[in-house]
Amino acid sequence: MRITVLTYVEGKERSTEYDPVVMQVVRALRRQGHQVAILGVHADVKRVLAGLQRRRPDLVFNLVEMFAENMFGDIAMEGLLDLLGLKYTGCGPGESYLTQDKALSKKLLAFHGILYPRFAVFARDADFETGGNLRMPLFVKPLRTDASIGIRRNSLVTDMKSLMRRVATIHDELNDSALAEEYIEGREFYVGVLGNYDPIALPPIELDFSGLPEGMPHVLDSKAKWDENSAEYKGTKAVLADLPDELRAKLQKVSVDAYRALRVRDYGRVDLRLTDTGDIYVLEVNASCYLARDSEFAMAAAAAGIPYPALIQRIVDLATDRYRRGSGLRKSAETGKKPSENGKKGGEAGKKSSDDGKKSAEAAKKTAED
Ligand SMILES: Nc1ncnc2c1ncn2[C@@H]1O[C@H](COP(=O)(O)OP(=O)(O)O)[C@@H](O)[C@H]1O
Ligand SMILES: [Mg+2]
Repeated sequence: MRITVLTYVEGKERSTEYDPVVMQVVRALRRQGHQVAILGVHADVKRVLAGLQRRRPDLVFNLVEMFAENMFGDIAMEGLLDLLGLKYTGCGPGESYLTQDKALSKKLLAFHGILYPRFAVFARDADFETGGNLRMPLFVKPLRTDASIGIRRNSLVTDMKSLMRRVATIHDELNDSALAEEYIEGREFYVGVLGNYDPIALPPIELDFSGLPEGMPHVLDSKAKWDENSAEYKGTKAVLADLPDELRAKLQKVSVDAYRALRVRDYGRVDLRLTDTGDIYVLEVNASCYLARDSEFAMAAAAAGIPYPALIQRIVDLATDRYRRGSGLRKSAETGKKPSENGKKGGEAGKKSSDDGKKSAEAAKKTAED
């Protein structure tokens, strides 16, 4: 198959400083015998069009997480691929929009009876919106921005004044709405899900916070994710969860339910918390989650007996099969009717990787664009 791996590049248009995941996916695809090209894009849509026209892929392996430093850039890119009539892996623009808006996601989870933290949205340009009476402490995070960006130690607030301060910082620094959620104390899990018509959940990965200094909140903030020298980074690790069968099955069921509720395509990862009383809360659903070899998703796949090249091939097969069956849209879960044709973030034993993050190229390897 002729496959183009499409990726965002930081800095300048012709940069070949790709995130490490790009070459890992390329190698995996080549090992499976595919003819693979890379297209790195930054902000020039004409280059995207020309690059795709020249490569004429049978399938685009879509790793784009942003475009033109626009928060909705990945969504627009998926729309562009749709308009070009190209087949691609992962979600389309509609599904991406739903999953990236953490408040909209919760409203869909509610319909399906899936638990989520109660919340309030503080939009930049609209009225305050609340989902019920909130109880302190609250956890304040950006509505859409992912990869723990904007999540700091002071994201956990216990009074109104600090809440409003965090909200204002998110508005000003990230240009995003703020989401205040009830803080869910408990163990944290990531569950990878693969599939379309009959999705399966991979073994849960647990975020082990036991290495954090005494008194530090057990959360995966931006330091824990990115700052290798910090106590937060050193004190947290992702491990294969050790769980009784029944609880593992429960976490997997909630994850598949949430994945379906948000119409995720091909692959994704659900972030959850489990309270002492046994309640499972969905924190977020990451459609088209980060796929690096040392990501929690790949780690979970390996634990399920799916080595990395087979995992990447599985995603290719899922996307191909989805297009073969129809428009790429799945049957509506509620009505069973087919929707109209018109219709979109281990290895080194479980260090954290971005979900789906607007990742920096800091760790990116220099490779040649072909
Ligand atoms: N309501 C919450 N209660 C407890 N911890 C939370 C809550 N929301 C987020 N967190 C912590 O912050 C981390 C990042 O939040 P998440 O919603 O997954 O955003 P991101 O898209 O940045 O990964 C989570 O992994 C978890 O540790
Ligand atoms: Mg997350």
